[in-house]
Amino acid sequence: MPGFHPIRLIRKALARAPPVIRQPDATDLKAVNVAFVAAIKTQMSHDQAMEAAIGGGFQQFGAIELAVLRHYGLPERGHLVDVGCGSGRLAQPLSAWLKGSYLGIDLVPDLVAHASRISARPDWRFEVIDHIGIPEANGSADMVCFFSVLTHLLHEQSFWYLEEARRVLKPGGRLVFSFLEFREPGHLQIFRDTVTSAKRANLQPLNTFIERGAIEVWARELGLRVVDIRDGGDAVVTEGALGQSLCVLEKAA
Ligand SMILES: C[S@@+](CC[C@H](N)C(=O)[O-])C[C@H]1O[C@@H](n2cnc3c(N)ncnc32)[C@H](O)[C@@H]1O
Repeated sequence: MPGFHPIRLIRKALARAPPVIRQPDATDLKAVNVAFVAAIKTQMSHDQAMEAAIGGGFQQFGAIELAVLRHYGLPERGHLVDVGCGSGRLAQPLSAWLKGSYLGIDLVPDLVAHASRISARPDWRFEVIDHIGIPEANGSADMVCFFSVLTHLLHEQSFWYLEEARRVLKPGGRLVFSFLEFREPGHLQIFRDTVTSAKRANLQPLNTFIERGAIEVWARELGLRVVDIRDGGDAVVTEGALGQSLCVLEKAA
C-alpha cells in the first residue's frame, strides 16, 4: 500500500513513549530465580541466604520431605530425581539414608553448589539447568520429586515437567509434588501476599495455585495413576505436615 510503512509508524510511536522500567520477564525462570537469590544474598550471610532462599525451615521441612518420600515407597537403594533441589534441604537428610543414587537439579548455581557441599555425597549428581528439563535417561528413576517447585511455574511449564518426569520414571515409578490450592485456608494468605507483591511489581518467582481438577485432567492426559492427594495440613508422616498440599502419581508398571 503506497505511503503505509508500519515499521516507521512503530518507530515513531516508540520514540514518543516514556522510558520503560525493565523487569525480568516472569517466564524467564532462570533470570527471575537467580536475581531472587542474589537479592537475598545482599541481606545476610551466604549460608543464611542459602537457607532463606528456599523458604527456610531447613531441618524441619527437610526431615518431612524425606519421610514423605519414604512413606510413598522410595527404595533405600533406588534412584531419586529431585527437581528444584534448591540448597539441599532434602538432599542433606537424604544423604544419611539413601544408599542408592540421586540427581538434584536447579536453575540457581549458588543453591546447587550449597546442596552439593552440605550433602557430601561425591557419588551423587548435582546439576544446574537453564529452563525446564530433566537431564536423565528414559526409565531410570524410581521416584521424581518436586517440593515447592510447581508452585512457581505456569501450568504449561508444570505439565511439561510432569511429561519429563514420566519419561525418566521406571515402569511403576512414582512422582511426588507439592502444590498450593485455593481450598486450603492456609494457602489463601500466600495468594493475598502475591496480589500485594504484584501491585508493587516486586521481583519474585511466581506463586501458582493448582486445583485438584486440573491435576486429575493432567494425570489422565499423561496416563498416570493418581495414588494420593492430601491437604497441606495433613500430617502424612509423624515428622509433621508439609504445609503445601501433596500429590503422588504413578507410571504404569
Ligand atoms: C521454594 S524452593 C524449594 C527447594 C527444594 N525443593 C526444597 O523443598 O527445599 C524452589 C526451588 O525451585 C527452583 N526452580 C524454580 N523453577 C525451576 C525450574 N524450572 N527447574 C528447576 N528448578 C526450578 C528454584 O530455583 C528453587 O531452588
